[in-house]
Amino acid sequence: MTTAAQKEKACSRHAKVSIIGAGNVGKTLAQRIIEKDLADVCLLDIVEGLPQGIALDLMEARPLEYHSRSVVGTNDYKDTADSDIVVITAGVARKPGMSREDLLKTNAQIVTTAAKKAIEYSPNAVFLVVTNPLDVMTYLVWKTVELSPEKVVGMAGVLDSARLQTFIALELKVAVSDVYALVLGGHGDLMLPIPRYCTVAGVPITELMPKQTIENLIQRTRDGGAEIVRLLKTGSAYYAPASSACYMIKSILLDESRILPAAVYLDGQYDLKDIYIGVPCRLGYRGVETIIEIALTEEEKEALHASARAVRANIDIALEYLAQGGGS
Ligand code: APR
Repeated sequence: MTTAAQKEKACSRHAKVSIIGAGNVGKTLAQRIIEKDLADVCLLDIVEGLPQGIALDLMEARPLEYHSRSVVGTNDYKDTADSDIVVITAGVARKPGMSREDLLKTNAQIVTTAAKKAIEYSPNAVFLVVTNPLDVMTYLVWKTVELSPEKVVGMAGVLDSARLQTFIALELKVAVSDVYALVLGGHGDLMLPIPRYCTVAGVPITELMPKQTIENLIQRTRDGGAEIVRLLKTGSAYYAPASSACYMIKSILLDESRILPAAVYLDGQYDLKDIYIGVPCRLGYRGVETIIEIALTEEEKEALHASARAVRANIDIALEYLAQGGGS
């Protein structure tokens, strides 16, 4: 089917987003999508009753929230059929003291199983991966669904950038809408915020704050997920992750062509090959429309490559684990 035909089809009915995993991120994302009138949602979870209960609760809020989109809860992948976007949030969330990498093997098994089932019913969907460790899970989903790389994208850069934007706005006491922040690299301790591309009303923050203050904000961004895990004690962040995924979904469904950082497949860009990692891209109806190569200093490039090496090592561990039968 051509992209034009797909687009026409999606316009002639409500768009459909299936969310695999009805946990904190999944259910919050479902709420955001329907309340913004973006798409009908199919919410799927392995736990019986959970997605059905959440869907019913959200539907009962519909007369009060004045939107016209519906949510269905299910444990059956058949109900995800014909989705425009499949979001994978299924997995185990981080607990205090647990790194994203600790989640690697369990979540590798969960996301590849989910992706295999979902692609059967939605062969034309764009896959948006949210489960951590993000870059590795996105790579595994791409390998599993065997779609072209532009149809598989991971959510992390939008979240990391939103966190840095928040901290910059708080520090300078300016409107967050005037702040732009760019974070590249893997969604982990080696993520790479680029201060000279972070601006307030167009002015780089390097001209607005001392170096040490910028360093502190960057460190807080790197620890952004862990800071929330420590405070919540059970579970991890979900409001901002759900908002970040919704932001990307809007750009895809409405063909907005927004430029945003996301985990995308690199095939030589930034001198990196066969890896998913966070760089700026243009996100539209076909998924990742363009990968944008911004000029990096030698130091920044080396930091991006170090982040890529860490992601690659985890990809190799996960692939080996899955090749050996992955816990089954
Ligand atoms: N199939 C479908 N759903 C599953 C499966 C599976 N095989 N395994 C687990 N789940 C479901 C769980 O039942 C649970 O409802 O995934 C959901 C995960 O929800 P939470 O534990 O609340 O985790 P959440 O905070 O939503 O985070 C999900 O997103 O941001 C990342 O690090 C986070 O990897 C984590 C993911």
